[in-house]
Amino acid sequence: MGTRKIDAYALLSLVLQLYIVIESQFCVATDTISQSKELSVGETLTSAGQIFELGFFRPGNSDKRYIGIWYKQIPVRKVVWVANREKPLTASDTTYALTIGMDGNLWLVDGNKTIFWSTNVSTPLNNSVAVLLDKGNFVLRDSVSGDSLWESFNQPCNTVLPGMMIGMDSRTGEKLFMSSWKTEDDPFPGIFVAGISPEKPPQAFVQKSSIPYWRSGPWNGLKFVGMPDLHGAYLNGFNFVPQVQQDNQYYFIFTLFNTSYVRIITLTPNGALQFVEWNEGMKDWNPVNDALVSACDVYGACGPFGVCNKNESPICRCLKGFEPKSNKEWGIRNWTSGCMRQTKLLCDKRIANLSSGSGKIDGFWKFRGIKLPDHSIYVPLDDSAQCKLWCLNNCSCLAYAYINGIGCTTWAADLFDIQEFAFGGEDLFLRLANSELGKVGKRVKLIASISVISGIAFLGAMIYGLCRWKANRRGKRYNRNHHIRFSDIFSPTSVAERGNLTRTGIKQQDPSELPMFDLQILVSATNKFNTNNKLGEGGFGPVFKGELEDGQVIAVKKLSRCSGQGVAEFKNEIILISKLQHKNLVRLMGFCAEGEELMIVYEYMPNRSLDTLLFDSTRSARLNWAKRFNIIQGTARGLLYLHRDSCLKIIHRDLKVSNILLDKDMNPKISDFGLARIFQGPQEQANTHRVVGTFGYMAPEYAIGGIFSEKSDVFSFGVLVLEIVSGKKNTNFQIHEEQLSLLGYAWQLWNEGRGLDLMDQELANSFSLSEVMRCIHVGLLCVQDRSADRPTMSDIVLMLSSETDGPQPKQPTFTFHNLLHNSQSNKTSSVNVVTVSAINGR
Ligand SMILES: *[C@@H]1O[C@H](CO)[C@@H](O)[C@H](O)[C@H]1NC(C)=O
Ligand SMILES: *[C@@H]1O[C@H](CO)[C@@H](O)[C@H](O)[C@H]1NC(C)=O
Ligand SMILES: *[C@@H]1O[C@H](CO)[C@@H](O)[C@H](O)[C@H]1NC(C)=O
Ligand SMILES: *[C@@H]1O[C@H](CO)[C@@H](O)[C@H](O)[C@H]1NC(C)=O
Ligand SMILES: *[C@@H]1O[C@H](CO)[C@@H](O)[C@H](O)[C@H]1NC(C)=O
Ligand SMILES: *[C@@H]1O[C@H](CO)[C@@H](O)[C@H](O)[C@H]1NC(C)=O
Ligand SMILES: *[C@@H]1O[C@H](CO)[C@@H](O)[C@H](O)[C@H]1NC(C)=O
Repeated sequence: MGTRKIDAYALLSLVLQLYIVIESQFCVATDTISQSKELSVGETLTSAGQIFELGFFRPGNSDKRYIGIWYKQIPVRKVVWVANREKPLTASDTTYALTIGMDGNLWLVDGNKTIFWSTNVSTPLNNSVAVLLDKGNFVLRDSVSGDSLWESFNQPCNTVLPGMMIGMDSRTGEKLFMSSWKTEDDPFPGIFVAGISPEKPPQAFVQKSSIPYWRSGPWNGLKFVGMPDLHGAYLNGFNFVPQVQQDNQYYFIFTLFNTSYVRIITLTPNGALQFVEWNEGMKDWNPVNDALVSACDVYGACGPFGVCNKNESPICRCLKGFEPKSNKEWGIRNWTSGCMRQTKLLCDKRIANLSSGSGKIDGFWKFRGIKLPDHSIYVPLDDSAQCKLWCLNNCSCLAYAYINGIGCTTWAADLFDIQEFAFGGEDLFLRLANSELGKVGKRVKLIASISVISGIAFLGAMIYGLCRWKANRRGKRYNRNHHIRFSDIFSPTSVAERGNLTRTGIKQQDPSELPMFDLQILVSATNKFNTNNKLGEGGFGPVFKGELEDGQVIAVKKLSRCSGQGVAEFKNEIILISKLQHKNLVRLMGFCAEGEELMIVYEYMPNRSLDTLLFDSTRSARLNWAKRFNIIQGTARGLLYLHRDSCLKIIHRDLKVSNILLDKDMNPKISDFGLARIFQGPQEQANTHRVVGTFGYMAPEYAIGGIFSEKSDVFSFGVLVLEIVSGKKNTNFQIHEEQLSLLGYAWQLWNEGRGLDLMDQELANSFSLSEVMRCIHVGLLCVQDRSADRPTMSDIVLMLSSETDGPQPKQPTFTFHNLLHNSQSNKTSSVNVVTVSAINGR
C-alpha cells in the first residue's frame, strides 16, 4: 500500500518475538524423526538446506511450551507454524518429546507417555518417518513408498509460506484456512479466520468470529479487484495465483518468483492480513502490503448501498439515487443502517402493480473505480452489451459490471461493501429509475466539462495551427536550401500527361518484375470496389479485398488522388519499394496506374490488421502473450530493416496498429511502408510541410514542427508497444476522469513500480513477467519527448531480445493528442482511427 503502515500491534509482535525463547543449546544435525529417533526439549530439526528449523519454543514471556517451525537463519524469530496450538505444554516440564507413535503417527508425549497432540491419520504402522523440508513443510511419510501421509502445509496456522495453498473444496468441505493467534504470545486460534470463498469468481476474505470482516473483491485472473494496490506486489517478487483445478475447488497458491526474498503472508491477532518480508538491511520483518489499513476496508463499513471513501470526510455517503435510511444515525456517524432508494424502479412499480406502472424504462448509472459490492452473481455472457441487456430485463438485477478477466457480474441483493478508490478499481453500472438518471448534479457537471473540453480542443487546434504556421516560417527561414516549395509537392502532373504516359505503354517496357495490373482486372477482382469488399481505410486511401480469376486473394490499395507525382515517378517509387523485402513487411504484388487511378496490389493477410483483434474485446483473447511478443519483435525487426538494412532507408511515418497486418500464423507484417515517400518525394529532407501520420502516434517534433527522422518512427513504435501490452488505444484512452494519456498513465504506473498494472488482463494466464516489463520499458523509452533520448531501432531489437538494462525512461509530457482525442471522442465518436494528412499554410 502507498501508506506502509506498520501498525502498533505488528511492531509489538516483532519486539516480543525478539524475546521468544528458543531452546536450542545444541543442534541436532538432522531433518528427520523416526521410530528410533525422537525429538526432545532442547533439540531441533533443521531442513536439509538449513532454511527452516523445528523444535520446542516458548512465545514471548509465556509459560507455555509449543512445537513450532521458524526460519533458521533469521535472527528475529517468526514462528510460521505451531503443532499443538490448542494443547500447550507446561514450560517447567522438560520431559516432553516428539516421536513416532505406535500407530505410526507423530505423537507429542510427556514423560508419562500421555499423548498431547497427534497427527492422527491412518498409517501403515511402523514405516513412517517425519521430515522437515526446505519449503518449511513438515511431512509424515511412509519411508518405504515415500507417500506423504500428513503435511503441516495442510494445517495452516496464521502464516502462509511460499508454495503453500489456501482455499477450499466446496464438495468435500475440506478447508485450508488461516487462523490468527489469540494474542502475540498465545498461538491458540483467535477470532480471525482468513481464506478463499467458494464463489465464482473466488475472493479472499477475513472473518471475525464467523462474521465477514474484510474481503478482497473478486479475483480477475490477475489480481483481486478490491485491492488495487496489491498489484505492485508482483513486481516485488511474489504472486498469488489460483490453482486451476476442478470446478468446486477454490485454492490459491502463494509463490515467490525471486527466491532471494523471504516473504510470507500472516494474519495478525487483530485481523489484518499482511504480506510481510524480512528486510536484511533493517534486520527486521516489514509489512509490504496490508489488506486492512483504513476504516473503509472493514467489511460493509457504510451499510447497504453506502460507499466508503477513505479520503473524504465523512467517509461514507450513499450511492447516487439513494439517501440515508436514518439521517439521525448518519448524523452521529453510525452508518450501519445504510441507504435506501429515492425513486422506485419502474420494474418494482410494475411488480407492485402501481398505477404509474408505465413510464420511462430504468437505466444504468456508471460508477467508476470502485471495489465492487459483495454477493455478486456471475452470468456467463460474452460482452458488456449482453450483460447490460440481461440486467435490464431481469427486475431482480440491481447492478452489473463487466470485468476484464471475469466477464458479466450482476447483483440482486443489497449492494454491500463498496469502496471508492482514487486509483484502480472497477466500474459498476447501477440500475436507477429513469428520472434519477437525468437529475442535476453529475449530469450538469458532465455537460459543462464536455463544453470545456471542446473549448480546449478548439484552442488546441488553434495553437496547433499557429505552431504549424510558425514551424513553416521557421522552416522557410532556416531551411531555405533544403526546402521543397509547396508548389513542388502539389503541382500534380496534369491528367493529360499521366494519360500520355500510360498510353505510351508502361506495360510493354516494364523493366522490373513487378507486374502491372490492368485496371479492369482489379475492378472485377474487387467487384467494382464494392464497399462490402472494403478492408479498411489507410492513411493513403481505402483498401479493398479482391480475388483474381485464378482464385488468388489480393488486397488493393487505391491511392488518394492528390499524390505529388506523375505516373512515371510513381512507378519508379513503387518499383523501388517493391525491392524492400523482409518477412515482416507486406509483400507488394504489383500496381496499377491508369488514368487517374493509382493502385497498389498487396498480398492478402487473412488475419487482417492488428487493431481488428487487439481492440476487440471478443477477439483479443486470440492474442496471447507469446503472440503479442512475437508481433512486437517482428515489427521491430521490420522497422529496423526499413531504417537501416534496406537500400532505401525508409522512414515509415505512419506506423500504427492498423498498419500492422497479421498473416495466418499471426506473424506481423508492416504495411504502407514507403508510401510517405510517394506522397512526399525523397525523404532526405528533415522537414516537411505535409504531416502524414496519425494523432496518437506522432512524435512531438513531427506533429508540431513537421520534423521527422527515424526517431519519429521510434516514437510511434513505442506507442504501438504500449498499446499491444495494454490492449488499449492511445487515442481513445481514459482512466477515470483524469485526462491522462496512455503514455502518461504507463509512465506513472512504471514510476510507482506498478508497471504490470498496465498489462491487458486478457494476458493474465499467458504472460511472462520479464518480457512484459521489458516491453513496457522499451515502450516508455521510445515515447520520450526528446528524440535524442529515444533508442534506435537496433537498440530496441537488442533490448527486446535479451535481458539488458536500459536507462530509466523520462516522463512523456507531450499531451497534444489528448486535446485532439477529446474533441474526437466527443464529436465523432464513431471514427475510431483518424488519420490526418494535415496540410499547413492553406
Ligand atoms: C507422571 O505420572 C506420575 C505418577 O502417575 C505423576 O506423579 C506425574 O505428575 C506425572 N507427570 C506428568 C507430567 O503428568
Ligand atoms: C483422532 O481423530 C479422531 C476422529 O477424527 C478423533 O475422534 C480423535 O479424538 C482424534 N485423536 C486425537 C489425539 O486428536
Ligand atoms: C512392523 O509391524 C508389523 C506388524 O504390525 C510387525 O510384525 C513388525 O515386526 C514391525 N516391524 C518393526 C521393524 O517394528
Ligand atoms: C532477486 O532479488 C534480488 C534482490 O533484490 C536481486 O538482486 C535479483 O536480481 C533478483 N533476481 C531476479 C531473478 O529478479
Ligand atoms: C447504530 O445503529 C444501529 C441501528 O441501525 C444500532 O443497532 C447500533 O447500536 C448503532 N450503533 C451505535 C454505535 O450507536
Ligand atoms: C396487476 O394488474 C393486472 C392488470 O391490471 C392484473 O391482471 C393483475 O392481476 C394484477 N396483479 C396483481 C398482483 O395485482
Ligand atoms: C433474475 O435474476 C435472479 C437473480 O440473479 C435469478 O435468480 C433469476 O433466475 C433471473 N431471472 C431470469 C428470468 O433470468
